[in-house]
Amino acid sequence: MAESKTKAELLPEDVDTDDCLTSYTYIYSPDLLKDQVAFITGGGSGIGLRIAEIFMRHGCDTVIASRNLDKLNEAAKKLSAVSGRRCLPLCIDVRQPDSIMAAVDEILKEFGRVDILVNNAAGNFLCPATALSFNAFKTVLDIDTLGTFNTSKVVYEKWFKDHGGSIVNISATLGYRGQALQVHAGSAKAANDAMTKHLAVEWGPSGVRVNAVAPGPISGTEGYRRLGKH
Ligand code: HXC
Ligand code: NAP
Repeated sequence: MAESKTKAELLPEDVDTDDCLTSYTYIYSPDLLKDQVAFITGGGSGIGLRIAEIFMRHGCDTVIASRNLDKLNEAAKKLSAVSGRRCLPLCIDVRQPDSIMAAVDEILKEFGRVDILVNNAAGNFLCPATALSFNAFKTVLDIDTLGTFNTSKVVYEKWFKDHGGSIVNISATLGYRGQALQVHAGSAKAANDAMTKHLAVEWGPSGVRVNAVAPGPISGTEGYRRLGKH
């Protein structure tokens, strides 16, 4: 008779660092994403890195892209080692459309396709509205909101328009009730939630699914270290 597992044994391991999991319990088929290609912004750390790891453990190749290439190179090595899949690290700033265009050209040259875009890159810190400079508010909107639009538009025009695909925007619940010290990030994510619906309506007919996921506080991440105690 199969041994029944406790709830704790069924839960994924709680990792406090950007190391890969030491064990992984499959919920979905191991081949769920076999030979697909996912482009994950901010995939070199935190939630983005874990998304890359789980996708790769289900047969996906990934591209992880952000500003710090050293961090991405290190992450890519770890991810490929645990999954046996390919992970391509690329340097981009989601505020600079030219850098995204060059990255997508490189992805299509290297893999010949892109199936999934995860808009995960973001910037945040705790700050009351009265202390927030004009540039501080703008910076977070630039990364979170314009960055999500820029990346979605480039991937759509270069590939999804003719082949379909899936976009997942990583959101947050900060704006739902107006959390203190978070007017910048809450406003940015609320705009992204609206953008998700607009693009789903406009791009659905081309076979593009656009969805958002709003996690609660996730331990072991930079977001949690910056905000978790509040
Ligand atoms: C107030 C700040 C600040 C702070 C920066 N600024 N940090 N203001 N409090 N802690 C201001 C600066 O003074 C400047 O304004 C403006 O913001 C831009 O700062 P830069 O350092 O020039 O920007 P940049 O180098 O582009 O860096 C972006 C950043 C940085 C967001 C400021 O922290 C970053 O790179 N973050 C990426 C990692 C990250 O934030 N991860 C957490 C994501 S968690 P002035 O006026 O002086 O020019 C998340 C949600 C979590 O998003 C939800 C949890 C529940
Ligand atoms: P994180 O590790 O700091 O992830 C953010 C990533 O974005 C970093 O890898 C960073 O890499 C990249 N990035 C920042 N600015 C960029 C830019 N201009 N261009 C390209 N890449 C950029 O933090 P996290 O906590 O895992 O957050 C990941 C996502 O989850 C974010 O969208 C966040 O809002 C969301 N979220 C987090 C939590 C949580 O509890 N942690 C809760 C709800 C939602 P570089 O520095 O190399 O650029």
